[in-house]
Amino acid sequence: MRRKLIAGNWKMYGDRAHLAELDAIAEAARANPGIDVLVCPPSVLIAPALARQPGLAIGAQNCHDAPEGPYTGSVSAAMLRECGATHVIVGHSERRAAQHETDAKVRAKSKSAIAAGMVALVCVGETEAERRAGEAEDIVTGQIFGSVTKYAQPDTVIVSYEPVWAIGSGLTPSIEEVRSMHATIRAALCSKLGEAIGSAIRILYGGSVSAANASELLAIENVDGALVGRASLTAAQFVPIIEAAAAI
Ligand code: 13P
Repeated sequence: MRRKLIAGNWKMYGDRAHLAELDAIAEAARANPGIDVLVCPPSVLIAPALARQPGLAIGAQNCHDAPEGPYTGSVSAAMLRECGATHVIVGHSERRAAQHETDAKVRAKSKSAIAAGMVALVCVGETEAERRAGEAEDIVTGQIFGSVTKYAQPDTVIVSYEPVWAIGSGLTPSIEEVRSMHATIRAALCSKLGEAIGSAIRILYGGSVSAANASELLAIENVDGALVGRASLTAAQFVPIIEAAAAI
């Protein structure tokens, strides 16, 4: 039985005043104990977020793959864990594109996150050109084999399928495209990690998730939750997504 997870990725948005949004989000998390809720604010807001809402799960958006070292401007998974973060997003397409993060780098970051006692939320997804070329499922399968560590367990790794072209665009794949891709990811996880582990790892969908489409997306087989960008920035938009997940 895979519990649904509704995770918010605030990206590089928000400030201390914005943490007031967490009050109603934490309230919704408490009111819906059958699902998991996570918010990933910018790393400097992790500790203040937990000071405001100590019961809410707070995650980071990236970590370095080394435990420490001469890497100016970077933070390690252990540092994030010490701040109170329990999860860390790795391999988001915005970082794969802008910071040239490879599958090997993403895998190293998830290993480092697990070693620090965190859950790695590993993102995969094809570009618009790859989907148009009919390569989406092959590309994503390759990303699963390359980015997910062979040490992955259901309580240390979560996968998020985020088609690059659906992020921030208001576009989403069709229900059938999501169903098919999540089945493909499930098969890749089972092939890589064995049936027991592969079938228990959660697979989220991300990309233009909103209160309007959440119920439909979250009801699809093998969609175990959502990774929400823009609509996670306000409780007014995020809480209905939490409630939609809880209602399934
Ligand atoms: P949007 O929900 O804003 O499309 O962003 C999705 C995303 O990138 C979450 O990680």
